[in-house]
Amino acid sequence: MRQFATVLSNHPIAKGAMEMKVSVDTNEIAPGTFFHVKTSELLRRPLSVANVEGNVVTFLYKVIGAGTTDLAARRAGDKLDVLGPLGNGFPLQQAGKRVVLVGGGIGVPPLYYTRRVLAARGIETVAILGFDTKASIFYEDAFRELGETIITTVDGTYGEKGFVTGPLAQVDADVLFSCGPEPMLKAVAASHIEERYISIENRMGCGIGACFACVYQAPDGYVKVCSDGPVFRAEEVTL
Ligand code: FES
Repeated sequence: MRQFATVLSNHPIAKGAMEMKVSVDTNEIAPGTFFHVKTSELLRRPLSVANVEGNVVTFLYKVIGAGTTDLAARRAGDKLDVLGPLGNGFPLQQAGKRVVLVGGGIGVPPLYYTRRVLAARGIETVAILGFDTKASIFYEDAFRELGETIITTVDGTYGEKGFVTGPLAQVDADVLFSCGPEPMLKAVAASHIEERYISIENRMGCGIGACFACVYQAPDGYVKVCSDGPVFRAEEVTL
């Protein structure tokens, strides 16, 4: 659904990370889905849903180009042209008794909303969140309020030094939900957790399965990230 959301707030929350809250007119938003947001660039930009409270949706994004620089300049009261919610999110019905959530950098946001929904359903979760450095960390307290949370930093300035795969090797869970950079997804896809679901980030055009801009290699051909995903079983894509 296309609509004009109203920006409520938009500010930095950590090194390289912005938090934008908008009000949208939508009933139900599944964890792991995204909105396709119009910026000054030709192509819209997919932004995952970091949280939903009533009709307020939170996006977290990194300023890395003209489109996100434009987003960072939006102020409260501005209108934002959005399509969504789009895509297929994390399969909460597969969640089992204990879920491990593994996020890296700007892949962390969709796991927060996912964790909130799982907690409301009484499902235990453990979160492992990886960042480059202490200054890049966001939402730590919010995650801790919902259960066990392990933070890693690559440079060791906070939490456990290294990558998320270190603590993941020690975790016992039935299902894994993950979002983050491709090398991290590749590592978690090879982990010992029996059922593994990963959210793929890719450039997009239409966002609704019509243009093939977002195709991603799969063992038996390709998948469209926007409409087949962005969440896939680890075995469904070739990382
Ligand atoms: Fe057009 Fe996915 S973005 S098919």
